[in-house]
Amino acid sequence: MIVVIDFGSQYNQLIARRVRECRVYCQIEPPSVGIETIKSLKPDGIILSGGPSSIYDKNSPKIDTAIFNMGIPVLGICYGMQFMIDALGGTVKKAAKREYGFAELNVKAPESLFEKIDKTTTCWMSHGDSISKLPQGFSITAATDNTRVAAAMNIKKNLFGLQFHPEVEHTPKGKQVLRNFLFNVCGCKRNWTMKAFARESIQQIQETVGDKKVILGLSGGVDSSVTAVLIHQAIGNHLTCIFVDNGLLRLNEAAKLKVILKQHLKINIRFVNTSKLFLNPLKGVTDPEKKRKIVGKIFMDVFEAEAKKIKGADFLAQGTLYPDIIESQSAFGGPTSIIKSHHNVGGLPKKMKLKLIEPLKYLFKDEVRKLGATLGMPEELIWRQPFPGPGLSIRIIGEITKQRLTVLRKVDDILIQEIKANGYYKKLWQSFAVLLPIKSVGVMGDKRTYENIIAIRAVTSKDAMTADWARLPHKLLAKISNRIINEVNGVNRVAYDISSKPPSTIEWE
Ligand code: XMP
Repeated sequence: MIVVIDFGSQYNQLIARRVRECRVYCQIEPPSVGIETIKSLKPDGIILSGGPSSIYDKNSPKIDTAIFNMGIPVLGICYGMQFMIDALGGTVKKAAKREYGFAELNVKAPESLFEKIDKTTTCWMSHGDSISKLPQGFSITAATDNTRVAAAMNIKKNLFGLQFHPEVEHTPKGKQVLRNFLFNVCGCKRNWTMKAFARESIQQIQETVGDKKVILGLSGGVDSSVTAVLIHQAIGNHLTCIFVDNGLLRLNEAAKLKVILKQHLKINIRFVNTSKLFLNPLKGVTDPEKKRKIVGKIFMDVFEAEAKKIKGADFLAQGTLYPDIIESQSAFGGPTSIIKSHHNVGGLPKKMKLKLIEPLKYLFKDEVRKLGATLGMPEELIWRQPFPGPGLSIRIIGEITKQRLTVLRKVDDILIQEIKANGYYKKLWQSFAVLLPIKSVGVMGDKRTYENIIAIRAVTSKDAMTADWARLPHKLLAKISNRIINEVNGVNRVAYDISSKPPSTIEWE
């Protein structure tokens, strides 16, 4: 396996993804991780990530320099390289010219990291400091016009540095550079497969849980469903799932899910219908954060009450994914302000005094889907688009009423039908409708109308941290708009949201 030390780069997750795409397991750790912990992970190699700091900043992140003497190959990227060079006696200086964007890389040493790479190739740079003097034992392996030391190595000690970013798409041969590091230098094996992961996880869950019981909040989303199946395969009927219908789900969603879940997951599931509990307290509430807090609090109460009925449960399982963990633990570059309260991981179970099991916590969404397939789950569960916990409450801007819920449900149903029928459902991260709190004038059958406006949101994304609005064909948008206005009473206008994240977010609230 490979350990990535997180110096705060926005590309950290990408490094981990790239390594895993090579079928090598990889874990991100903060710089504060002790040498003993690193040793216990038995890594074949260590990657020091980039980061926004300059090594001369007072609070720049640092790791114990003993890692350079462990006999484990180290690859420093950008800040990671500068940290290594500085720590080993070289010099890093403010660059005369900041280098940001594409640069032509001239390879000086076509062996080791640059095997199978042309003498000149494009790379992506993003740095203000540069290396002006290398430590003893190091040599320059590549340069660009602006950067004399664009790559360097100490081959005897297996220490490597890249000033550019091999993990981004903008460095076309970057993956080859990483492959060279993983396989030629570190001697990694391609054994990170979902089958192996499933086998190991099942064994681990069995060891952790023993003959105790586990409960899990099942939402019907891919993360909680895959978690349920994995745990079920490990401990069978010692797992009980709780599905809470909060009355804020899509059209017939609870009923449809009940059928799919019962049919495909032969798991104990308790279905609880508590819609009324949620709708009353939401009356008159328009503030998005208040909506979230209300829904979250009631969910917790309902869940807790249900969980208490399951005697002898010691564990609570959650479908937490790797991006959630990284975002909340990132030593540098983690979120400094809360954008939406859902971004806080692990709010649910604290007061329930249950031990947490999060078997997906090292996986990315696409890996979770692969795991689901490996476990034999049906496509219709694996490929469900994410749906937020507060449900339609945050897609009805302004006040939530039964009547507005009905309108939005009908609209959303038409949208999803069309998206699916035209083959876009799997291609999009999410596609949904938002009911706006304003009305507009229209004309229908020669009569004036004054009705609701719907916004359609369809985005592509890898992990919801960033997203782009989907370029859906005009013909499809026209069909969606026509059907909504014709078939749903109370809507006379449809708008398409063409903003990306950032600066917008995926949900409107
Ligand atoms: P934003 O709107 O922050 O959403 O760009 C990112 C992803 O998170 C989902 N989302 C939520 N999920 N509870 C959830 O479980 C929430 O309160 C919540 N708010 C947003 C959103 O659908 C998107 O996939």
